[in-house]
Amino acid sequence: MILLEQQIKIIDMTERHIKEVAQIEKVSFPTPWPRQTFEFEIFYNELAEYMVALDGHKVVGYGGMWMVLNEAHITNVAVQPRYREMGIGRMLMLSLMQRAASLGADRMTLEVRPSNGPARDLYHSLGFVECGLRKGYYQDNDEDAIIMWRERLNEKYPNQSEV
Ligand SMILES: CC(C)(COP(=O)(O)OP(=O)(O)OC[C@H]1O[C@@H](n2cnc3c(N)ncnc32)[C@H](O)[C@@H]1OP(=O)(O)O)[C@@H](O)C(=O)NCCC(=O)NCCS
Repeated sequence: MILLEQQIKIIDMTERHIKEVAQIEKVSFPTPWPRQTFEFEIFYNELAEYMVALDGHKVVGYGGMWMVLNEAHITNVAVQPRYREMGIGRMLMLSLMQRAASLGADRMTLEVRPSNGPARDLYHSLGFVECGLRKGYYQDNDEDAIIMWRERLNEKYPNQSEV
């Protein structure tokens, strides 16, 4: 599939996106969040910021974070399998980084599985640095989590273009 970057729009997640988001979540993670968790995030969590990537009206990816003082904590990022490796994950991350900076965050963090090469490559390419491990963090297989941080959110990383 050929995808034009202009074809994809990144907007704030709303209630009408949740069904499709939960479907992508289900095929992307071993212990997926249920639909109700996304509903809670959108309606009740005042720290939460969630965005979706749309191809027309179709949700093809999403990502979210919690804003905690001057830090943004990524909760999840995923792209529909057929739409991977087309730049959508990067667009979502850049949008989240820009939103976090505009809300006053100066650093961003996330956890990633050592076995998740594509995600680690994506985060490295955006200036995230591996800073530590949470032992046995993932309950499905007891895998450790690598903790990554991106400092100075207001500064662009050399490879980083605008969304
Ligand atoms: C991780 C994920 C969100 C990346 O989304 P994507 O839209 O495929 O990523 P992009 O096309 O924007 O790729 C951006 C960069 O990520 C890296 N990357 C993406 N897919 C990759 C792959 N299969 N192998 C190696 N690197 C990869 C590359 O550095 C790439 O940059 P490049 O195109 O200049 O080489 C996607 O693979 C996904 O949804 N995975 C399942 C859910 C998940 O693991 N989420 C992250 C949890 S921490």
